[in-house]
Amino acid sequence: MAGVVVVGSMWGDEGKGKVTDYLAQKADAVVRYAGGNNAGHTIVYDGKKFALKLIPSGIFSGHEVIMGNGMVVNPKAFLEEVRYLNDAGIDTSRIKVSDRCHVILPYHLEIDAIQEKRKGDKNIGTTKKGIGPTYVDKYSRIGIRMGEFIDEELFLERLKETFPMKVMEYPELEEKYSVESIFEEYKEYAKAIKPLVCDTGMLLDEYLQQDRKVLFEGAQGAMLDIDYGTYPFVTSSHPGANGVCEGAGIGPLYIKEAIGIIKAYTTRVGSGPFPTELFDEVGDLIRERGHEYGTVTQRARRTGWFDAVVVNQSRRMSSLTGISLMLLDVLSGFETIKICKAYRLDGKEIYGLPSTVKDIERVEPVYEEMPGWQEDITHVQSFEELPVHCQNYIRRIEELIHCPVVMFSVGPDRNQTVVLKDIQF
Ligand code: IMP
Repeated sequence: MAGVVVVGSMWGDEGKGKVTDYLAQKADAVVRYAGGNNAGHTIVYDGKKFALKLIPSGIFSGHEVIMGNGMVVNPKAFLEEVRYLNDAGIDTSRIKVSDRCHVILPYHLEIDAIQEKRKGDKNIGTTKKGIGPTYVDKYSRIGIRMGEFIDEELFLERLKETFPMKVMEYPELEEKYSVESIFEEYKEYAKAIKPLVCDTGMLLDEYLQQDRKVLFEGAQGAMLDIDYGTYPFVTSSHPGANGVCEGAGIGPLYIKEAIGIIKAYTTRVGSGPFPTELFDEVGDLIRERGHEYGTVTQRARRTGWFDAVVVNQSRRMSSLTGISLMLLDVLSGFETIKICKAYRLDGKEIYGLPSTVKDIERVEPVYEEMPGWQEDITHVQSFEELPVHCQNYIRRIEELIHCPVVMFSVGPDRNQTVVLKDIQF
């Protein structure tokens, strides 16, 4: 067993990039297994800030980088990201793309926008990158897979079958696209990607059989899981460790550790229920201090207190073995800090997320209030150096979520991460 998984355990944007980057240095290969360019990872490498949406952040560590079959890949966005990295002197020749991942074509982006418009004020607030519509085609068994895409004849054949079906559902597509226009543009992208495409499941099995260290890099967050998130305000994949087997093509026994990334508070982008959301100046202060604006869409993130019900749900789904607690410094300066330990629904305390949005919107957070700390903690290098109220806050979180904090972060730089327990592959 030599697989470690890093997953977002809230609604995404927990700071996975930083932890992945740290663990990637010890790994031989870094794998993404779900989602597409709806993700946004910010990484500081060699003093420069990089924003990646699609390519695993392990690209900076110089190891093998794998984009698994569970992903949906926009070829144009992929090649733009490759160019962006190459222009900065980063080698991208070690990227491998699964022959089974599904290809996002321009009409998927259009359908995403049409669907959001049709939903009116019930829209999901998607990233409009065509993610959902591409997964729909996958499960309707009309999608185009990477292995087909890079075979020119087959790509055209599949496009001729699929596109007219989409036009029947969305007639407005015909105003912008035709089989010919898509084919002419995208066959060039296919040529450029072809040398990178292979059976990544087989490759990974080989690595794991040889006990090579493989890091699985989650995108988004577990609360956006298609089954266990706040459905329908979710993404269309399984972002947690529960998505690794299906999205990377390996079995569960290869996974040794699953590290959940959480913030010291909670954020969410897009629409959907958010029980601990703050609508006051405390929420605004957290947003400003935490620079809570989206990497992909620049949208202001919604902010709220820490929610143990949400993180417990993520722990269950991913069998989390450790927690990395990010942005702890953002909470310095509050008189008191609230933690949501349960929800109250119809007069009863509950510890799991209800399955319907209607009920999640009705729950009342049951808060515990703890004394805050006033000290600046951005220079702290150990748990013992933290103010005692901050230590108590961490210990209480661990109790409530039944999982140890193995790492915490007090600022954006690499040296502002404190490791309490080394993660072994
Ligand atoms: P989609 O993934 O673009 O279909 O968007 C579905 C939902 O997931 C929306 O609420 C998005 O804001 C959210 N979402 C998708 N990717 C991310 C991410 O990387 N971080 C945070 N939220 C995301």
